[in-house]
This record gives sequence, C-alpha cells and structure tokens, in this order.
Amino acid sequence: MRMKSSRMSGLIKSILLANCVVALSCYAATSFAAEDDSYSQDVVKMSETMTTVDCAQCHYEIFMSIKNGRGAHRLECQECHETYHSFRQGASYKESLPVCINCHDTPHGESEEMIACKTCHSVPHTPLASLSVVSLEPYCATCHAEPGEKMQSSNADHGKLKCGLCHSEGHGYVPTCQECHGVPHASSVTEDFDGCLDCHGNPHDLSLTAD
Ligand code: HEC
Ligand code: HEC
Ligand code: HEC
Ligand code: HEC
Ligand code: HEC
Ligand code: HEC
Ligand code: HEC
Ligand code: HEC
Repeated sequence: MRMKSSRMSGLIKSILLANCVVALSCYAATSFAAEDDSYSQDVVKMSETMTTVDCAQCHYEIFMSIKNGRGAHRLECQECHETYHSFRQGASYKESLPVCINCHDTPHGESEEMIACKTCHSVPHTPLASLSVVSLEPYCATCHAEPGEKMQSSNADHGKLKCGLCHSEGHGYVPTCQECHGVPHASSVTEDFDGCLDCHGNPHDLSLTAD
C-alpha cells in the first residue's frame, strides 16, 4: 500500500514538475501538494494530549515510585509539571522544575535548614516515604526540643545514645523497652506495675521513680 501511494505521488510530482515554470513555484508544488508529506498534516501538540500514563512510557521509574509509594503526591504529573521539556535559553535545568514552597509554603519554619526541603524529603515524588532516620538524625532535637533537652541533661546511659538507635524503624517509630533489654526482672518484681516506665521514669532521662 505504502509503496503504491508513494509511487503515485511520485507520478503527481513529475507531472507538476513538468508543468512548473519558475523554480520557486516548483518547490512549493512538490513539497506541499503531496498527500504523504508530513508537513501537510495537522498536528496536535503532544504536550496537550499527554496523560500521566503517557509520561510513564519514558519516566517509568518515577511513575512506579509514585504508584507504589501511595502518598499524597499521587497526582497527575502535569498538576505539578506545568512546564517540562522546556530547555529555555538562559534558564537552568533546576529552574524548569517545580518548587516545593510554591505549593506548601514553609511548614517547619523559615530557618535555613528547614527550607532546604530535600535534605529530609529526599525524593520529591514520595516526600514522606523518603524520610530516613539517618538523614533526620541531626535535626530530631530541633523539632522535638523536650526529648533533646532531657537527654542532654541526663546522666543515665540512654542520654549518650543517638535518637535513631531507638527510633529506628522510620520516622515516628516508638520502640518497646523489651526490644533491647528482653526481660530484665523477675515477674514477681514487675507484676504490680503497668510498665517499665512506672519505675524507670522517662526513656530520655531514666531515673527510678518508685521505691
Ligand atoms: C504543584 C504543587 C506541589 C508541589 C510543587 C509539591 N507538592 Fe507536596 N503536596 C501537594 C499536594 C496537593 C499534596 C496533598 C495535600 C496536602 O497534603 O497538602 C501534597 C502533600 C505533600 C506531603 C504530605 C505527603 C503525604 O503523603 O501525606 C509532603 C510531605 C509534601 N507534599 C512535601 C513536598 C515537598 C518536599 C515538595 C518539593 C520536593 C513538594 N511537596 C512539592 C502539592 C505539591
Ligand atoms: C506533587 C508534585 C509532583 C508530581 C505529581 C510529579 N512531580 Fe515530578 N517533580 C516534582 C518536583 C518538586 C521535582 C523537582 C525536585 C527538585 O529536584 O528540585 C520533580 C522532578 C521531576 C523530574 C526531574 C528530576 C528527576 O527526579 O528525575 C522528572 C523527570 C519528573 N519530576 C517527572 C515526573 C513525572 C513523569 C510525573 C508523573 C508520573 C511527576 N513527575 C509527578 C513534583 C512532582
Ligand atoms: C518520549 C519520551 C518522553 C515522554 C513521553 C515524556 N518525557 Fe519527560 N523527559 C524525557 C527525557 C529523555 C528527558 C531528559 C532526561 C531526563 O531528565 O530523564 C525528560 C525530562 C523531563 C523532565 C526534566 C526537566 C525538563 O523539563 O526537561 C521533566 C520534569 C519531565 N521530563 C516531565 C515529563 C512529563 C510531565 C511528561 C508527560 C506529560 C513527560 N515528561 C513525558 C522523555 C520523555
Ligand atoms: C529537617 C528535616 C526536614 C526538612 C528540612 C523539611 N521537612 Fe517536611 N517533614 C519532616 C518530617 C520529619 C515530617 C513528618 C512530620 C509529620 O508527620 O508531620 C515532615 C512533614 C512534612 C509535611 C506534611 C505535614 C503534615 O502535616 O502532613 C509537609 C507538607 C512537608 N513536610 C513539607 C516540607 C517542605 C515544603 C519543606 C521545605 C520548605 C520541608 N518539608 C522541609 C522533615 C523535614
Ligand atoms: C521537621 C520536624 C521534625 C523532625 C526533623 C523530626 N520530627 Fe519527629 N515528628 C515531627 C512531627 C510534626 C510529628 C507528629 C506530631 C505528633 O504527633 O506529635 C513527629 C512525630 C514523631 C514521633 C511519634 C510521636 C508519638 O507521640 O507517637 C517520634 C517518636 C518522633 N517524631 C521522633 C523523631 C526522631 C527520633 C527524629 C530524628 C531521627 C525526628 N522525630 C525528627 C516533626 C519532626
Ligand atoms: C534508649 C532509647 C531511646 C532514645 C535514645 C530516644 N528515645 Fe525517644 N522514646 C523512647 C521510648 C521507649 C519512647 C516511648 C515512651 C513512652 O512509651 O511513653 C520514646 C518517646 C519519644 C517521643 C514521643 C513522646 C514524647 O516524649 O514526646 C518522641 C517525640 C521522642 N521519643 C523523640 C526522641 C528524640 C528526639 C530523641 C533524641 C534526642 C530520642 N527520642 C531518643 C526511646 C528512646
Ligand atoms: C534500642 C535499644 C534500647 C531501647 C529500646 C531501650 N534501651 Fe535501655 N539501654 C540501652 C543501652 C544501649 C543502654 C546502655 C547500657 C547497656 O549497654 O545495656 C541502656 C541502659 C538502660 C538502663 C541502665 C541505665 C543506666 O544509666 O545505668 C536502664 C534502666 C534502661 N536502659 C531501661 C530502659 C527502659 C525502661 C526502656 C524502655 C522505656 C529502654 N531501656 C529502652 C538500649 C535501649
Ligand atoms: C518495680 C519497679 C521496676 C519495674 C516495673 C522495672 N524495673 Fe528495671 N530496674 C528497677 C530497679 C530498682 C533497678 C535497679 C537499679 C539499679 O541497679 O541501679 C532496675 C534496673 C534495670 C536495668 C539495669 C539492669 C542492670 O543490670 O544494670 C534495666 C536494663 C531495666 N531495669 C530495664 C527494665 C525494663 C525493660 C522493664 C520493663 C520490662 C523494667 N526495668 C521494669 C526497677 C524496675
């Protein structure tokens, strides 16, 4: 089919060529009149019809991380990326990407360390899932002042430990004492108490509170 129609248009072209007088009109006739000339067809800009699933054809890993991450950034790509593939003259790569604070303002305050969103939210597409205990460690006490202060002023062994040693399984994880200490006392000692902290006070500043 394809061969036939291009032979056909070849024929049309040669007829047109034979008939044209000036070089310029020959060019116009040969390039615009043929049916299979790409430039004679109507084109809808891809960016106007592309869906998130189309983006995923090329940005597969990003699509899958949003899909599997199940966070609140599970939005259509173009809700955040209003412009993309736009290597504008004079604009850097970074300048073409969306900026967190345009949508979120500054939820943790305006200090220099808190406006560097990606130190903690290391993957923009899965901002909560990408919080890691290791990258948060330097900032725990900035947001949780009380445990930080308690530990600094404490003489107990817990005061020397890193927050992330205990709060280890992701941000917000709260450990049980038994995870590390097993069963340290005979049940006859502990049976009348609700839990370890009845006697040991506070995990961040151990001090015996019962006689
Ligand atoms: C175009 C707007 C837009 C941009 C840009 C954007 N976000 Fe979001 N983000 C949202 C919306 C909408 C939600 C869901 C509603 C809400 O929590 O406000 C959200 C939710 C979140 C959440 C809660 C996530 C959850 O799963 O509950 C975090 C954390 C977050 N964004 C961080 C960021 C960070 C960090 C950046 C920059 C890397 C960023 N956002 C860029 C629109 C945006
Ligand atoms: C909630 C807003 C949001 C959504 C939804 C979103 N992105 Fe992004 N994306 C961002 C932000 C913010 C950055 C830039 C962060 C930075 O590096 O400063 C980014 C960066 C990128 C980058 C360049 C850097 C990189 O990580 O490779 C690509 C490519 C990209 N996004 C593609 C996509 C595609 C494809 C989708 C849909 C499947 C999508 N994004 C959905 C906010 C979003
Ligand atoms: C035919 C393949 C293809 C499709 C479809 C595609 N992209 Fe891309 N995109 C690329 C390539 C290649 C790059 C450059 C390398 C990179 O950053 O991954 C890129 C870069 C980007 C970037 C980085 C910064 C920029 O603006 O150049 C963003 C953001 C982006 N794409 C978003 C999207 C969104 C949103 C869609 C869907 C509406 C989409 N892309 C569809 C191939 C594609
Ligand atoms: C020092 C680390 C750190 C930095 C820097 C940081 N975040 Fe967060 N962010 C967190 C932690 C930890 C949480 C989870 C706390 C929670 O559950 O509310 C969080 C939660 C959020 C939430 C969800 C709040 C809610 O109530 O659901 C949003 C939105 C957010 N961050 C956006 C940002 C933006 C935007 C920036 C940059 C301006 C930023 N974060 C910088 C650590 C950080
Ligand atoms: C950007 C501020 C921020 C940083 C940094 C941060 N947190 Fe949080 N954290 C929060 C917020 C906000 C909440 C949720 C508020 C609430 O429920 O009390 C939270 C919740 C928690 C909880 C759960 C509290 C409960 O009552 O269940 C623990 C535990 C925790 N964080 C420990 C840590 C540790 C350990 C680090 C460092 C590795 C850390 N956080 C870093 C803001 C932060
Ligand atoms: C030795 C282990 C351990 C260390 C180290 C530790 N915590 Fe905790 N933390 C706990 C336990 C256990 C609880 C639960 C206490 C309870 O059940 O009342 C807790 C509770 C919390 C809570 C929620 C209740 C509250 O007191 O606000 C926060 C927030 C918290 N820790 C933050 C931190 C921070 C920040 C650090 C470092 C400065 C830290 N923790 C160090 C074991 C630890
Ligand atoms: C992630 C592990 C971890 C968790 C969880 C933990 N501890 Fe500890 N604890 C330690 C370490 C490490 C020490 C230091 C001494 C040692 O090596 O046994 C310690 C020491 C102690 C001591 C001796 C204190 C001293 O100063 O001599 C007591 C009492 C104690 N823990 C009670 C608790 C109680 C009660 C809880 C729960 C609220 C708890 N621990 C949770 C790791 C942990
Ligand atoms: C009835 C009060 C009481 C209860 C309940 C209690 N303890 Fe103790 N615990 C003590 C006393 C008293 C000591 C001895 C203090 C000392 O030797 O300085 C102690 C010592 C410890 C020590 C240090 C042991 C050592 O060899 O140095 C650890 C660890 C400990 N307790 C963990 C726990 C844990 C975990 C729980 C909960 C399962 C718990 N305790 C419940 C009173 C209690």
